[in-house]
Amino acid sequence: MPFRHVLITGASAGLGAAFARVLARPGAVLHLGARRAEALAAVAEDCRARGASVTTRLVDVRDAAAMADWVRGAGRLDLVLANAGVSAGTGTAQEQDARVRLIFETNLTGVLNTALPALEVMAAQAPGEDGWRGHVAVVSSIAGFVAAPTAPAYCASKAAARAWAEARDATERRRGLRVHALCPGFIRTAMTADNPFPMPWMMSPEVAARRALAGIVAGRTRIAYPRRLYALTRLTGALPPGLLNRLMMLAPGKPAG
Ligand SMILES: NC(=O)c1ccc[n+]([C@@H]2O[C@H](COP(=O)([O-])OP(=O)(O)OC[C@H]3O[C@@H](n4cnc5c(N)ncnc54)[C@H](OP(=O)(O)O)[C@@H]3O)[C@@H](O)[C@H]2O)c1
Repeated sequence: MPFRHVLITGASAGLGAAFARVLARPGAVLHLGARRAEALAAVAEDCRARGASVTTRLVDVRDAAAMADWVRGAGRLDLVLANAGVSAGTGTAQEQDARVRLIFETNLTGVLNTALPALEVMAAQAPGEDGWRGHVAVVSSIAGFVAAPTAPAYCASKAAARAWAEARDATERRRGLRVHALCPGFIRTAMTADNPFPMPWMMSPEVAARRALAGIVAGRTRIAYPRRLYALTRLTGALPPGLLNRLMMLAPGKPAG
């Protein structure tokens, strides 16, 4: 793994914690951020036990100034994982306005608050052992390929984050940087624990983290997996929106949170 200096948002649980544990080894320098102190400290301890040097920061990704301060002060960064995210569905009614705003502020503005200062830091540093100055990986979702009427803000926030990351990768390559869009399917975390619908090909957080990292190392811009779910989602997402809405409204929706 060519990444020694790594910064991860949303590292206190789920996929972010799995990224931290998978990357933790002697020589690794991990910068882990989240809002819950106790949960973050526990992940940091696990990583230290695996030989990594770890710093933690209690930070809300929606706070642009605090994020810029953290990212700029971290020193060299080979990989930044913009992972923090929230989800909610419609439940049995409409999305709540406050939830819509929270989802976009976390999943889209929070990603930009992480990625923009990270790209600035990376552009000024020497290339790493893989020849790139640095990699930013934005955690989108396979949900970003379908505008599900049961989770409008979540799907739209993930679609926007993915589109931004994929398009930005082209111009960032010119200055020796990479931007990747990670689009996992269902992962067994708190985010999916209450989903009342079938979740085919569910992955453990560790498997999801390893597959994402393998895709980054392989140099892929879009890393979407598992492949069968990705193919199914692309087909579903190609349906006319009226038909898609009618079909998807037959299934139980994601809880409002
Ligand atoms: N689970 C899935 O099936 C799935 C599938 C595809 C993509 N994803 C994406 O994967 C990412 C991680 O999700 P997960 O499944 O691991 O969910 P999770 O277990 O609920 O973890 C979410 C993480 O994000 C952090 N977070 C949330 N809001 C934050 C904020 N405002 N500021 C800083 N940190 C914040 C949380 O930490 P604190 O609460 O301590 O701040 C936590 O560490 C998300 O972007 C999600 O959309 C998940």
